[in-house]
Amino acid sequence: MVNILAERLKNDEPLDRKKFRKGAYRLYIETYGCQMNVADSEVVLSILNEAGFGLTDDYKSADLILINTCAIRDNAEQRIFNRLNEFKHLKKRNKSLLIGIIGCMAERLKEKLVEKEKLVDLVVGPDAYRSLPDLVEEAESGQKAINVLLSREETYAEISPVRLSKNGVSAFVSIMRGCDNMCSYCVVPYTRGRERSRDPITILSEVQDLIDNGFREVTLLGQNVDKYNWNNGMVNFAKLLAMTAELDPDLRVRFSTSYPQDMTDEVLHTIAKYDNICKYIHLPVQSGSTAILKKMKRGYTREWYMDRIRAIRTIIPECAISSDFITGFCNETEEDHQETLSIMKWVGFDYSYMFKYSERPDTYAAKRLPDDVPEEVKSRRLKEIIELQNQLSLESNRRDVGGIFKVLVEGESKKSSDRLFGRNSQNKVIVFDKQNAEIGDYVIVKVNDCSSATLLGEIIRFK
Ligand code: 5AD
Ligand code: SF4
Repeated sequence: MVNILAERLKNDEPLDRKKFRKGAYRLYIETYGCQMNVADSEVVLSILNEAGFGLTDDYKSADLILINTCAIRDNAEQRIFNRLNEFKHLKKRNKSLLIGIIGCMAERLKEKLVEKEKLVDLVVGPDAYRSLPDLVEEAESGQKAINVLLSREETYAEISPVRLSKNGVSAFVSIMRGCDNMCSYCVVPYTRGRERSRDPITILSEVQDLIDNGFREVTLLGQNVDKYNWNNGMVNFAKLLAMTAELDPDLRVRFSTSYPQDMTDEVLHTIAKYDNICKYIHLPVQSGSTAILKKMKRGYTREWYMDRIRAIRTIIPECAISSDFITGFCNETEEDHQETLSIMKWVGFDYSYMFKYSERPDTYAAKRLPDDVPEEVKSRRLKEIIELQNQLSLESNRRDVGGIFKVLVEGESKKSSDRLFGRNSQNKVIVFDKQNAEIGDYVIVKVNDCSSATLLGEIIRFK
């Protein structure tokens, strides 16, 4: 591509980027990390489509490779460095290929990425995606192009994301950006900047657009959705949920992530009130020990968290609950670890994401607290919580055997083309025989069997 570009420049022809590219420039984009990054990649695609880039699935034929990165743990970053090395040989063959690092790692490492990773041409932080077309142009001229400015306002509010998900059934919709919580272990406030909410009109019109295009499920995304706040409380998260649910009773509404300190009963009553708001809350606790929670600067105690669980169980009895855990945080004792195991049993989480503590440079914990739990202790504790969670997930799934659920069909089962899979309101994956069902249908499924990860069932009727 740059060869053609060079030709044009040699001939001194004025460059109309938009007209010139017309999808002829091939963009390959790879996304790591959270759902928010998936949503961001769709914004990036929209911006670059406008600038004439077309998407390719084949990185070998790409003119521009972008890696949308995650910085949350060291191993996430190592994976990306490894991937970058794999792209190295492509550069040798195709001198005009551009490679860009975007997202959280770009924001964290900034110029260092260009210095350390000589093959990186672009470094673009999560609030700077509008400048991508200009940065690409800069990189094409042989300079290293960097924009890692964070913004207090940017929400990409009016940009229509170009969907990367293939199923055409479910989509992510970003409702806010950034995070002001400042948990002591977390890099996100540094990589994604200050918390800001997106204009609800633009959120609702994006969702309406998805409905008009046949989508059946949206997940409203924010680092802490409970802090959603438009116009000094005129629209809070509960109201936004209700307005989204009212757009179409056949649209499923999900959301992530909730925060124990900020999740209100008003939100819970709204979830209970609308059939189409899914009965599933991802409410990360991180640790069951109040002493550790204090060091993590989470702003709540073990008892507070348990009170929120009681509120969920009272207001939405059929609600599924999942969590995140960090093992081996600074000064974590065996007693603290036992408290984590005990809160897991007390709640009976349906599912969890579990991690070893990874110290992140520049966070409060990195500066002030010793990363003093030995690696083998972290690993052993992680193994214990994973084993317990597997047991809890299996128990939770066994309780559903014999149950009847409304399922949104999302795709073919990976193991067999005669079977489909979808999820129930509680976010559990159910696999069942196809019959005449199609992707995007709602079907009523009776569960006959399960493993710790999946429910197995049969369609008993169509909706
Ligand atoms: N080390 C390990 N896990 C972390 N998380 C966030 N920061 C770290 C870290 N420094 C986990 C938390 C969070 C999830 C997205 O990632 O559990 O909820
Ligand atoms: Fe998402 Fe956090 Fe990873 Fe950034 S650092 S991609 S916000 S999980």
